[in-house]
Amino acid sequence: MVKRIPILACAALVLALSACQKSQDTGIEVTQGADGSKSVRAIGMTFQWRFEGESLEIHVTSPGKGWIGVGFDPRNLMREADFILLYVADGQAVAADQYGSQLTNHERDTALGGTDDVTVVSGSETDSGTEVTFRVPVNSGDEFDKVLTAGTEHTILLAYSEADDFETQHTPAARTKIKVTL
Ligand code: HEM
Repeated sequence: MVKRIPILACAALVLALSACQKSQDTGIEVTQGADGSKSVRAIGMTFQWRFEGESLEIHVTSPGKGWIGVGFDPRNLMREADFILLYVADGQAVAADQYGSQLTNHERDTALGGTDDVTVVSGSETDSGTEVTFRVPVNSGDEFDKVLTAGTEHTILLAYSEADDFETQHTPAARTKIKVTL
């Protein structure tokens, strides 16, 4: 009986460590594009970015037909992350600049007294999924946005869904957290 306690403790530690690795991938491979962009792939999504003056242009693809979300630098789970959510409906991409106001909830920056700092460039939906391109300022000055400068490491949340709205929750398999140097 006495000998079983360390074995159980070990098993619990191994389980906890594997859960951590699943929710935060730190060994993600960054691919450099000929146009100066960089990209990573995770959970079937592509996250591609390129700095253009005072803006960061981001291209994201997902295998889903609903919203696509990108979040920067949460404190814990989704809290305090700077989110951009987009979906494509009737051939048009719709975007919202949001903030992780709670562990598992987010609200529009404008609802919190901030500003909406996202510009849609394009968006399309096909049988194989959704793709969107948008721009955000590298430093909007809004307290609900993060400062995103080249060469800095950030925690990035990626998620997608099958619903054309900004509320329906992703499945556990359709969200991830990665560390990326922009
Ligand atoms: C649209 C409404 C959303 C709802 C209702 C929602 C809800 C939740 C809930 C309940 C959890 C905890 C359970 C779990 O781990 O799956 C969670 C975790 C998570 N969500 Fe969301 N979410 C939403 C949008 C988003 C968006 C837009 C992103 C990314 C851009 C995102 C990324 C994540 C990630 C990465 C986790 C796990 C965090 C961690 O393990 O540290 N979620 N979300």
